[in-house]
Amino acid sequence: MRVYRPEAGSLVQREEPTPEPRRGEVLVRVRATSLNYRDLLILDGDHFATGSGSLIPLSDAAGEVAAVGEGVTRFKAGDRVLNAFHSDWIAGRLPGTLTGYGNGQDGWLAEYRAVGGHALVALPDSLSYEQGATLPCAAVTAWTSLGGVKPGEVVLTLGTGGVSLFALQLAKQHGARVVATTSSAAKAAKLTELGADVVIDYTATPEWGKAVLDATGGRGADRIVEVGGPGTFAQSLVAAGTHHADIALVGFVGRSGPPVDFMDLFRSGATIRKIWVGSREDTEDLLRWLAVRPLEPVVDSVFPFDDAGAAFERFRSRRNLGKVVVTVP
Ligand SMILES: NC(=O)c1ccc[n+]([C@@H]2O[C@H](COP(=O)([O-])OP(=O)(O)OC[C@H]3O[C@@H](n4cnc5c(N)ncnc54)[C@H](OP(=O)(O)O)[C@@H]3O)[C@@H](O)[C@H]2O)c1
Repeated sequence: MRVYRPEAGSLVQREEPTPEPRRGEVLVRVRATSLNYRDLLILDGDHFATGSGSLIPLSDAAGEVAAVGEGVTRFKAGDRVLNAFHSDWIAGRLPGTLTGYGNGQDGWLAEYRAVGGHALVALPDSLSYEQGATLPCAAVTAWTSLGGVKPGEVVLTLGTGGVSLFALQLAKQHGARVVATTSSAAKAAKLTELGADVVIDYTATPEWGKAVLDATGGRGADRIVEVGGPGTFAQSLVAAGTHHADIALVGFVGRSGPPVDFMDLFRSGATIRKIWVGSREDTEDLLRWLAVRPLEPVVDSVFPFDDAGAAFERFRSRRNLGKVVVTVP
């Protein structure tokens, strides 16, 4: 089988033996994978959980079951599946140790991958492999970030990355009002097309937290899907107002910014929840929701397996609007 492994910061395609599924394992014939911010960080050796060496990259995939090992009852050959982001977090609280795809164990940029049957979920027929492969990291993160969102609440999303676009789409499905930030007019138009009620250009309006207050009659956002981290958190606190908003602490695409003022945090009364994507149960809950409220993942571009390097470059350019997908013939 063909796989990609990083070598000195670039991806190199190699031929390796196709794994045999062992007891409890499922051999997946990968049909599509997708890229997330973490995959660039890992390739660049810049991830806090780095130490990946030459592990196969990518955390997200969809495919079909090629074979099952002894004792597997959840799946059979021919079933359509996608992976849960965490191979060993089934449900409940976050386990003490987790082994990430691409930074603790081989990921999914390969023609075949054998994993424990418990690490997979069924891919509904309503979703293509390309669409299924967009879900395990970004969509599940958006889902857990918005857990419990109520109709009429104001959800603030930051930028047009994978997590933020799914958060916008899911928030609208739940009847929320969405205020979204971005950095270009073209992306602003796309956010409006996807249902954003208010769009703020964070480059033209560096004090965008105040703009969120203005757009909400001074009250602020009820929920913030905080993907910017150091670069956005101070403004997010302004946007949160003082009414005990929920801030889902997701990421750090804005790598540096002003320090957070404790009194601002105190005044906001915000609840801050650290998100770690979600469990397999969260993934299954999302798929159940999508069965009754279908949603079309925003896909920017699809690259064939042989052009996986170009997919990474497209994603790195930040010109993409939506998920970058790699298909496996
Ligand atoms: N904790 C978790 O469970 C979890 C799960 C998934 C992801 N994450 C983290 O969440 C973050 C987003 O991941 P992703 O895969 O969705 O990223 P992505 O697709 O790479 O998102 C990139 C986008 O971020 C936006 N951005 C960059 N700087 C920004 C800023 N200062 N303010 C607002 N937006 C900014 C840009 O949007 P515009 O082009 O529109 O400006 C850019 O296109 C990453 O830090 C990732 O590591 C965490």
